[in-house]
Amino acid sequence: MLLRDMMRNERAGLSTRLIEALRSARHVVALTGSGLSAESGIPTFRGVDGYWRRYRVEDLASPHGFARDPRLVWTWYNERWQRCRTAEPNPGHRALAELERALPRVTVVTQNVDGLHLRAGSRNVLELHGTLRKAYCTRCAERAPMPDDGWPLDAIDHDCGGRMRPGVVWFGEALPHGAWEAAQAAVASADVLLVVGTSALVYPAAGLWESAPRGCITVEINPEETPISDRLDERYASPAGSLLPQLLDAAQRR
Ligand code: OAD
Repeated sequence: MLLRDMMRNERAGLSTRLIEALRSARHVVALTGSGLSAESGIPTFRGVDGYWRRYRVEDLASPHGFARDPRLVWTWYNERWQRCRTAEPNPGHRALAELERALPRVTVVTQNVDGLHLRAGSRNVLELHGTLRKAYCTRCAERAPMPDDGWPLDAIDHDCGGRMRPGVVWFGEALPHGAWEAAQAAVASADVLLVVGTSALVYPAAGLWESAPRGCITVEINPEETPISDRLDERYASPAGSLLPQLLDAAQRR
């Protein structure tokens, strides 16, 4: 941990620069990752209990893996869907939703597919990696809502000859149409960029901060350091569920 992080932790406070930036901000953008939902009981991908410590990403999150064993892939996504559907947004999600009501403009750009930002009340959300709430056909692209009990394994084959698949982005696939351009445009007009709960290892999301304009304060909120920690202006080595409510509190005293 860097000395400046430890000092900040001891004060458990926000820098004056960040507080002032929040109070005058016209546009705050938050890029979020699975660490934000960890406090809702949803595992991250690369943490100690992370999914990619237990499963092979190419088996479960690639078009190739799905073509090889669609039932295995659906079984895993059905389990994840159950976990996400029954999880509750935590104080971090709720603080971001509240921030949207307190400031002129807030955009959440999330890599998470759990839907917790929307359930917390955020409205301006770009789901860069898709969503577990929907399935679609690999051939005709017909969409369907995910049933509460998950996708039935005997209904994977679609009438058109394609297969129904989860509405998430897999490795090697393009992001949802327009989502990347919208995310870049949002960051390009931000006064404050918050990078929350992501290991910043998966591109293009990990490179989004580079679109921040001159004068935008870039802030990482993550108990662990990441490859971009030293590239951003400030870093708070705290869990998002405690830091984001503090940030909301500071912004509300405009
Ligand atoms: P990772 O598992 O790679 O990283 C989670 C990050 O959250 C780590 O840096 C943790 O230190 C941090 N973290 C853990 N608890 C936290 C807390 N309470 N508050 C703040 N931060 C916390 O997850 P992502 O970065 O989201 O993609 O992973 C990016 C993408 O890789 C995912 O969207 C997924 C995955 O493979 C696809 O499936 C396409």
